[in-house]
Amino acid sequence: MKNKIKRIGVLTAGGDCPGLNAVIRAVVKTAINEHGLEVMGIRDGFGGLINKKVSQITEKDVSGILPRGGTILGTSNRDNPFKYKILKDGKPEFIDVSEQVIKTIEYNDIDAIITIGGDGTQTMSLEFYERYGIPMVGVPKTIDNDLGGTDVTFGFDSALQVATFSIDKLHSTAESHHRVMVIEVMGRDAGWIALHSGIAGGGDVILIPEIPYKIENVAKSIEKRVKKGKRFSLVVVSEGAKAEGGEVVVKKIVDDPSMPIRLGGVGNKVGDEIEDLTGMETRVTVLGHLQRGGSPSPFDRLLATRFGYHAVELVVKGKFGKMVAVRGNDIIDVSLAEAARNPKRVKPDGDMVKMAVALGTGFGM
Ligand code: F6P
Repeated sequence: MKNKIKRIGVLTAGGDCPGLNAVIRAVVKTAINEHGLEVMGIRDGFGGLINKKVSQITEKDVSGILPRGGTILGTSNRDNPFKYKILKDGKPEFIDVSEQVIKTIEYNDIDAIITIGGDGTQTMSLEFYERYGIPMVGVPKTIDNDLGGTDVTFGFDSALQVATFSIDKLHSTAESHHRVMVIEVMGRDAGWIALHSGIAGGGDVILIPEIPYKIENVAKSIEKRVKKGKRFSLVVVSEGAKAEGGEVVVKKIVDDPSMPIRLGGVGNKVGDEIEDLTGMETRVTVLGHLQRGGSPSPFDRLLATRFGYHAVELVVKGKFGKMVAVRGNDIIDVSLAEAARNPKRVKPDGDMVKMAVALGTGFGM
C-alpha cells in the first residue's frame, strides 16, 4: 500500500437498491472537494475489475443523481472473482480470477477501493483485504437489512415505503370485497421487510423466516377476526417464510455459486391454503423488484450520503478492512469480518414481535 492515497476506486455490487447513487455522489464530492483525490468508477461490481471496465468519474458525472434509483456504475450479483463462471466445452465451470482483479487495480493506480454492497460484496472485500492486502472500505447496502455490524442498511427504508404503501392499497380493496389479501415481500432469509411493513401497514398476520408458521394457526387468526366482525384480513409473507418442519419455497435453482436459490412462491402457497382452510376468497400479490426500484426515501438519501462521506474519511485515515455502519444516531466503523460473518435476523422474542403479538397480529405460531 502506498503511504499517501491519491486515487480511490468505487464500485456497487450485488442487487441494486435506492440510495446507491447518493453514496457514489457523496464519495466523489468528498474525495475531490475535501481531499483532492481522484475517483475511478468501476463498472458492474467486481465484474469491472475482472473485465477492466474502469474510468475516472468527476463531479459532473454525479450531478443530479441524488434522487435517482439504481446505480450509475451498474452492478452485478453474479461476478464473484473467487468463483467466476466460465463456459468450458459449453459447460459452466467456476474459477478463481482474483489475480486479474489485482492486475486491474495496479494498472489503474488505484490506492484504495470503496465497495458498496451487501453480505456477498463485503465477504469478497474481506477476502481481497485479507488475502492480498488490498485497502478496502465497505458501505452497507441492501433492502433486506440483514447485514451484521450496522443497525440499518440504506435501501431498507425505501423498500419499506413501497411495501407499506402497497399494503395500504390492498387494505381498501380487501375491505370492500371481504377478502383475504396475501402480499409476498422480499428479504431472503431475514424477515425485516415483512415485519416492519406488516406492522406499519397494519397486517393481521405476518410470516417471517425466523418464526416458522403453522398454517392452521394462520387460518385461526383470520377466523378470529371474522368472529369479531372483521370480514377481511391482510397477510404479509416474507419470501423466505417456511412452515414448521417445512422448507422455503424455491422458484428456481441457478448455477450461480453466490446465490443458487431464487426464492418465490410462498405467497401463492399460503394463499391457496388459507382459501382451503377458511373458505374465504383470497388473492395474492407478489411485490418483487418494485421494492428495489425508484427514488430513495429522504431517510435513505441522508444515510447513504453520511455513509459515502464517512467511507472516504476512513480511506484518508488509512482505516482499511472496515465497513461504515450506523449505531443509534452515530456513524461508526466495524470490521468487514463482523459485517460479513454475522448476518442480522429478526429476534422471535424481540420487542417488535412482542409488541405486534400484543396488538393482535398473528405469526402463525
Ligand atoms: O438481496 C436483495 C434481494 O432483492 C432479495 O430480497 C431477493 O431475494 C433477491 O435480492 C432477488 O435477487 P435478483 O434480483 O437476482 O432476482
